[in-house]
Amino acid sequence: MKRKVLLMGQSGCGKTSMRSLIFSSYRAADTRRLGSTLDVEHSHVRFLGNLVLNLWDCGGQQSYMDSYLDKQRSQVFSTVGVLIYVFDLVAAAEGGEEGQTEWERDLRYYKDCVSALYQYSPDAQVFCLLHKMDLIDATRRAGVYSSRVKELRRKSREVAQAAGGKGEGFRVNCFATSIWDESLYRAWSRIVQTQIPALGVLERHLQLLADTCSASEVVVFERTTFLVIAKALGSSCKESSSSPQRLTGFHYDEEEEGMEGFRDTQRSSLTSNSSGFFNPSDSHFSFTSSTTTTKPSAQSTTLDPERFEKVSELIKNFKLSCQKLPAKTAQCEFQAVELRTPTFSAYIDSLTSNTYIMILVTDPSIHLASVKLNVQLARDHFE
Ligand code: GTP
Repeated sequence: MKRKVLLMGQSGCGKTSMRSLIFSSYRAADTRRLGSTLDVEHSHVRFLGNLVLNLWDCGGQQSYMDSYLDKQRSQVFSTVGVLIYVFDLVAAAEGGEEGQTEWERDLRYYKDCVSALYQYSPDAQVFCLLHKMDLIDATRRAGVYSSRVKELRRKSREVAQAAGGKGEGFRVNCFATSIWDESLYRAWSRIVQTQIPALGVLERHLQLLADTCSASEVVVFERTTFLVIAKALGSSCKESSSSPQRLTGFHYDEEEEGMEGFRDTQRSSLTSNSSGFFNPSDSHFSFTSSTTTTKPSAQSTTLDPERFEKVSELIKNFKLSCQKLPAKTAQCEFQAVELRTPTFSAYIDSLTSNTYIMILVTDPSIHLASVKLNVQLARDHFE
């Protein structure tokens, strides 16, 4: 299954940098050495075994952009699954009058690209990454983000109306991103999740595995990119977003605009009431053995909504560090991670040939040995 992904935006906005970070072994600092992309750089990324992302990194120099929209129009915009348009927010937000001109030029190109997409690939998904957020003054991020998102959505509506459509045009999903933190992993995880068939089925099975392990949370990462593929909460672990507390960093929700876009810190009530072992022959994952355990009283924990993307970033960097070890020790490739703290335990191990799994346990009476055994028993089923 092949999906064409267009990566577009003006020269220097950071397209190749993000691609290199996510799909190749680059660190953020390495991207300073990247040169300008000439025309289109094609790459095929095998994802989860049979999903192939056909990435088109479209060089953003003006002459190339004009050519994509004119001579190469049908070639570039046909059969597109996803358009990722990257905006360099720095010039626009910090560059005064010149910056405003730059932003308006960017908006015109964006509108033209969306218009071409509407013509050739009306079923495509559109994602806008408002990039280099790290360079925007922290006090202005929310305001800058909110006003830009409104403009982008307006442009999308204008395209639909100009084409005689009645609807809103493409649903534009926006993310604030930076190569210097986990926000990039969050955006790309969400993007690839939209391309995974039967994600709901996978999540249901993960939920059963979470319950079998008496885990609070279970997360599956893609093996090479460590992007979050799917996750499930243990059923005894109820999340509610009733907390009025807001995050102070730049965490934005692609569904919302402006200050509403800041996601509320979620509170989780963590309780556990069973333990057992995964039975691969039982499609309902019912327990083959179950012991009654003494439960800790329900506790409220404040969870960072980007905690898994932080893990993605950490593990990716850890893997890169492993690769830099001297030749003799380099044999010791990353295989599994076991983490114990006074409040929780985490276990990361390979699940299938294309994925890793992370299981989080907060119940002190659950032993990681049983979690490991369950992961081992679940492997064939998930493969
Ligand atoms: P073309 O190939 O000309 O279309 O440019 P591009 O969009 O591929 O830009 P590229 O990835 O080459 O990045 C240009 C510069 O931006 C590099 O020096 C990167 O290090 C820098 N850069 C990319 N992303 C970020 C970011 O999130 N924050 C900061 N501060 N710099 C970034």
